[in-house]
Amino acid sequence: MENKINIFASDNCSGVHPLIMQAVEKANKGYEISYGDDGYTAEAVKIFKEKFGKEADVYFVFTGTAANVLSLKAATDTFNSVICAETSHINVDECGAPERFAGVKLLTIPTGDGKIKIQQIERFLEVKGIEHHSQPRVISIAESTEYGTVYSAREIRVIADFAHNNEMYLHMDGARLSNACATLKCDFKYLTNDCGVDILSFGGTKNGMMMGESVVIFNPDLKNNFKYIRKQGMQLFSKMRYVSAQFIEFFKDDLWLKNALHANEMAKLLAQKLVDLGVKVTNKVESNGVFAVLDGDVIEKLREKYVFYVWNSRLNEVRFMCSFDTEEKDIDLFIEMLRNILR
Ligand SMILES: Cc1ncc(COP(=O)(O)O)c(C=O)c1O
Repeated sequence: MENKINIFASDNCSGVHPLIMQAVEKANKGYEISYGDDGYTAEAVKIFKEKFGKEADVYFVFTGTAANVLSLKAATDTFNSVICAETSHINVDECGAPERFAGVKLLTIPTGDGKIKIQQIERFLEVKGIEHHSQPRVISIAESTEYGTVYSAREIRVIADFAHNNEMYLHMDGARLSNACATLKCDFKYLTNDCGVDILSFGGTKNGMMMGESVVIFNPDLKNNFKYIRKQGMQLFSKMRYVSAQFIEFFKDDLWLKNALHANEMAKLLAQKLVDLGVKVTNKVESNGVFAVLDGDVIEKLREKYVFYVWNSRLNEVRFMCSFDTEEKDIDLFIEMLRNILR
């Protein structure tokens, strides 16, 4: 409500896509059986199976953090560890929820661009079978990454094969999987099920939904107990039709793709305009986030009007996010202000 401009702070700052809002309104009629035994949820589950493969099981949850934590819980015992990027959401932005609720240790890998490589994972396996050490059981990657970069299908497959050859599972945090699929011009199944992902957190909130995330399970070993894990994890909500109706609309006529393509395109445009001003953009712009380095006094001046986050204070690296409803004129106004500050 503050008088500052929140457009580039996060894709969570956007409102709800009007078609999604209409879908919620339409679902708001009459009575439906609760806890997911309703017609909307049956329809949404059917669509998920079409998109991710018929063997995929899907469970809706409220937040991306819950999707991640419950996925990790399903794939681990309390003596296990999860290998992930130092910059991953599970490590940085979940207040220790994976440690607290999944009861796992996180083994983190430094990355420049948010992407981990199997050569960096190998050293963690030296402790396998030694009871003094937590036992690596999951590799967790984000697609798109927290730095706006994207793993190719081949890169995912290499990590999945490595995980499976070493008795581990591959978890994917797909809070922004739509943006990655839009960039790589592929469907959801191609980057997940076909690549050997075992369990996926799949997001809708950052791409036009009001709220609603999901856990999609491909590996049969992880399916059996998930309904109990979700309930015990306090994520089985009663009026599920409202999330299911959103996901139905999200997939209809490829709304997810239109939204993600637009957000990605706006990020590219913003990055180009920053580069044209002589600003250093630090990562490849492969989804809807732009990372750039600005002088401290420039950041301060911009912040008098705009809200955005400093991602790495040591480097003065900031993050600008674009969204399904970012407009070119928003970018122009922002760039105009920056140009005046830099003058
Ligand atoms: C990579 C990533 N994963 C997961 C999430 C989900 O977070 P939340 O629990 O806020 O829905 C986010 C949100 O910022 C994210 O950026």
